[in-house]
Amino acid sequence: MCGIVGYVGPRPAADILIKGLRKLEYRGYDSAGIALFDSGKLDITKAQGKLENVEKLLEKKRKDILVNAHCGIGHTRWATHGRPNTPNAHPHTVGHIAIVHNGIIENYQEIKKDLIKKGYLPKSETDSEMFAFLVFDEMQSGTGLVEATRKSFLKLKGACSVVVMSEREPNLVVGARNGSPLVATVDPRGGAILASDAQPILEYAREIFFLENGDLVIGTSKGLEFRNIKTGKPIKRHSTKIDWSPEKVGKQGYDHYMKKEIYEQPTVLVDTLNGNLNRTSKAAFNLSTKKGANILAKAKEIIIVACGTSWHAAMVGKYWLEQVAKVPVSVELASEFRYRSPVLRKGVVLLGISQSGETADTLAVIKDVKEKKIPTLVITNVKNSTLSREADSTFYTHAGTEIGVAATKTFSAQLMVLLMISGFLAGKKAKTKADKLKIKNLYSDLISLPLFLKEYLDEKSPLVKQVLKTANAVQNAKGFFFIGRGLSFPIALEGALKLKEIAYIHSEGYAAGELKHGPIAMIDKDMVAVVISPNDHWRDKTVSNLEEVKARGAQIVSIGNSGDVMLKKLSDHWIGMPENIETKTTSDLCFPFFSTIVMQLFSYELAVLRGTDVDKPRNLAKSVTVE
Ligand code: M6R
Repeated sequence: MCGIVGYVGPRPAADILIKGLRKLEYRGYDSAGIALFDSGKLDITKAQGKLENVEKLLEKKRKDILVNAHCGIGHTRWATHGRPNTPNAHPHTVGHIAIVHNGIIENYQEIKKDLIKKGYLPKSETDSEMFAFLVFDEMQSGTGLVEATRKSFLKLKGACSVVVMSEREPNLVVGARNGSPLVATVDPRGGAILASDAQPILEYAREIFFLENGDLVIGTSKGLEFRNIKTGKPIKRHSTKIDWSPEKVGKQGYDHYMKKEIYEQPTVLVDTLNGNLNRTSKAAFNLSTKKGANILAKAKEIIIVACGTSWHAAMVGKYWLEQVAKVPVSVELASEFRYRSPVLRKGVVLLGISQSGETADTLAVIKDVKEKKIPTLVITNVKNSTLSREADSTFYTHAGTEIGVAATKTFSAQLMVLLMISGFLAGKKAKTKADKLKIKNLYSDLISLPLFLKEYLDEKSPLVKQVLKTANAVQNAKGFFFIGRGLSFPIALEGALKLKEIAYIHSEGYAAGELKHGPIAMIDKDMVAVVISPNDHWRDKTVSNLEEVKARGAQIVSIGNSGDVMLKKLSDHWIGMPENIETKTTSDLCFPFFSTIVMQLFSYELAVLRGTDVDKPRNLAKSVTVE
């Protein structure tokens, strides 16, 4: 993961680097740092923890460096090799060289051995520092910075990107990409900006160059040049005009980004619907991404790959696609699938889901199957992300930037796309009047869903009060089991993941029927079972499972339909779905949108009670670009 920025040009470099890193902090916040040229010398400021620690250090620096330095590089880290402390923070320097690195150098141990033999002494525990030594070593024999970077980069194994500068060649930043993303732009005022994604750049320029693997980029006060890393020869790269605006970020009165993003979901779902459906068409579920729709329409089978929360969305998608569209679907963890020997049948379509569009394992699967000529699709939130550029076609979720590391609105938006896809495929198969009516009803459910969700999510609504009350009551529990069946099973998994991620509370998600096969041994009076049990065709079975854990002393938190008096009676704490859920939606297919909100608010409230850093939970990052 990690975020990197490089700048050379007429503007004060410190300002561009800090502002840029702020936009990249979602990629990691274990430490941060910047390197600036100060009268021909490198000036390094780095600190453990978030970027604000670097900013505090910069406040104490001479003002003239901050104004007069016009070249620099910056980094925000998600630790892979070495602890998250200041010595391991980037930029790493060796003599006149400073580097920032994103990704993993898989052969760093071998490189390290060679360097030690040559008499070099690493100061950090990182793999990244080795790259600084390699460049320094190359330059010792008189090689210039560009060639030294190129030759050194060729020695690395693993997916990564770097940006380098040297005191010997001021006003030059050199970047290289293999795997981890790197973009660049020419600053209209002269100069160049390099970064891990386009967000740090959009304030200054709209024409963005997305580097390809094997590209080297040279940034000077005159602009950009590109070279092929293998040959060193100049290459042409075309820019892409970006029409999206720099995201307006701010908590808008909410205590945390996560809370704001939870409350944004009704609006996001409208954007997801509008962004994916041709609403002027008479036909329901007329997908506006034509290429993607054509690929889907020909699919005999769909394999969905994803990680984490996106994998949970994929699981919900499987239930929908099977039930609504009658398409065979399997759901795979990308990190497992890529190293298996899966049998891929004719007619299969591979669908990757990733909010960031950068997840290393999901990306690797898409690339592998593409080589086998299997059609690939992606559902992602980030325009021009690596996954969207790799796949044959992309369905965007239109959730807007999600700052909270825990996925919330992007998850709901993924669900919305999956349900639209299910409706679209069902429409292709519908023959009878009854079939067609079902699809029409599902369509009108989806159109009215955001409004309905908005009423339900009102801060003064009974739901929000019930969640808060319940979180207060169970905050000291030893552990949590989230259970559900059918569509509520993946939501239970998601509930448990959210609680772990942001509140650091041990929690497990289980298919309700599985508890008795082992985990029930954990149940006692200090445990809480969160039971998701809507009035669907799994309800009675789930209630039986509830009885099993209740009999063993667990405190029961239930989430069910308001009218379910029996379920309410069996529960110690009750979170009811809106009274009118049955009248406003024609089927229980939409229930996951409601139960998801409960999961999110519940974990949020528990995290607040525990005083954790909700938006930037420890050890995590928003974009997981290492495998
Ligand atoms: O960007 P992706 O959706 O591919 O990321 C996958 C997971 O890393 C991500 O969902 C992770 O589990 C989140 N922290 C969940 O809140």
